[in-house]
Amino acid sequence: MLGAMAASTIRYQQVEIPEGMIDLGLGQPQNELLPLDHVRRAASCIDRIDILQYGAEWGDGWYRVALGEYLTSVYGIAVDPEHLFATNGNSQALDMVCSVYSRPGDVVFVEDPTYFIALRTFADHHLDVRPVRVDDEGMDVEHLAELLAALRSEGRSPAFVHVIPTFQNPTGATLSAERRARLVALSEEYHFVVVADEVYHLLRYTDVPPPPPMAAFDGSGTVVSLGTFSKIFAPGLRLGWVHGVPELLAPFEDYGVVTSGGGLNPISGLIATTVMQEGWLEEYRTSLSSIYAGRVSLMDAELRAALPDDVMWTAPTGGYFFWLGLPARLDVGAVRARCLDQGVDLRVGSLFSPIGTPHPCVRLSFTFYADDDLREGVRRLARAFGGREARSG
Ligand SMILES: Cc1ncc(COP(=O)(O)O)c(C=O)c1O
Repeated sequence: MLGAMAASTIRYQQVEIPEGMIDLGLGQPQNELLPLDHVRRAASCIDRIDILQYGAEWGDGWYRVALGEYLTSVYGIAVDPEHLFATNGNSQALDMVCSVYSRPGDVVFVEDPTYFIALRTFADHHLDVRPVRVDDEGMDVEHLAELLAALRSEGRSPAFVHVIPTFQNPTGATLSAERRARLVALSEEYHFVVVADEVYHLLRYTDVPPPPPMAAFDGSGTVVSLGTFSKIFAPGLRLGWVHGVPELLAPFEDYGVVTSGGGLNPISGLIATTVMQEGWLEEYRTSLSSIYAGRVSLMDAELRAALPDDVMWTAPTGGYFFWLGLPARLDVGAVRARCLDQGVDLRVGSLFSPIGTPHPCVRLSFTFYADDDLREGVRRLARAFGGREARSG
């Protein structure tokens, strides 16, 4: 039996890590932290037979109402359930955005660096992806303004601008309130949609809240905000939402998947509804944030003790990632090769660029591993980087 399974090509999870490897590049939660009990309890409460039917296109009404109440309580702004559209998570939402708001060949602006798998979705839709610089305050909106003006001089405008405003993947940077307002002003001036992927907004590790979500800056209906249960609860739910004015969301009813199959994921939506209404989501998110905050402190201290002092980073205040800047003397590709030899993996900076910019950086995450593995992972990194003594040596 075991032999037959080993030879099978059937897989059970998206990511399979080689035996003995610690993959610090991986951006997903640790299995042991996933909320199985909450899901079990919520599933055992299912008593609506209609939830097994094709659902309303915008998503199950109970889900939208419960989500509106939950987001109002955690975002600090009023969220109207009529401004929410159910999704299968931000990956699917992004595909829907591309299908509905763009046509092949359209220009879209994205951050450089950005979430690399989003680039795959833009390629699926044959979009002309143009990079915008990112600094400590997130997307450089004045650089975007220059690019928009240049595009206008060619008689063109972008289909949308994609931004990860809070605890960005991969840099961890958060777009300041001033830049958020400026980005919305640009969207009004140049008539494009701001697609804000706010996947990490609700995962912060300090007492200082980030600026409100992008929807709070939306004066005239140019912003759609994508949110997901993947990071605050469980990726396997495949559940999320788009938040925006109804005029911007209405075209999603024409997305073929919804037109044919009805509203997305009614069963997961009902589970999430119970989890939100019973207060379990808030309880879980709070405990997850405190576990992750502990891991950030631990990893920051371990890295500081172990890596050469010309490797630079800022400890993340939310989200999933450390973004380490390497000095010129360290070649990123060679460092990764040495990491693999030591049994630890990471993600190299160029991966996150829409145009292959060779960012002299690497991305690490602390979400998939508990403390002991993080410590061991950093010990291996230190051997690959050359350790603290390497600079003088
Ligand atoms: C910026 C960003 N967007 C989207 C996703 C995927 O979200 P979902 O699981 O909701 O599809 C991730 C996950 O790593 C992410 O980092």
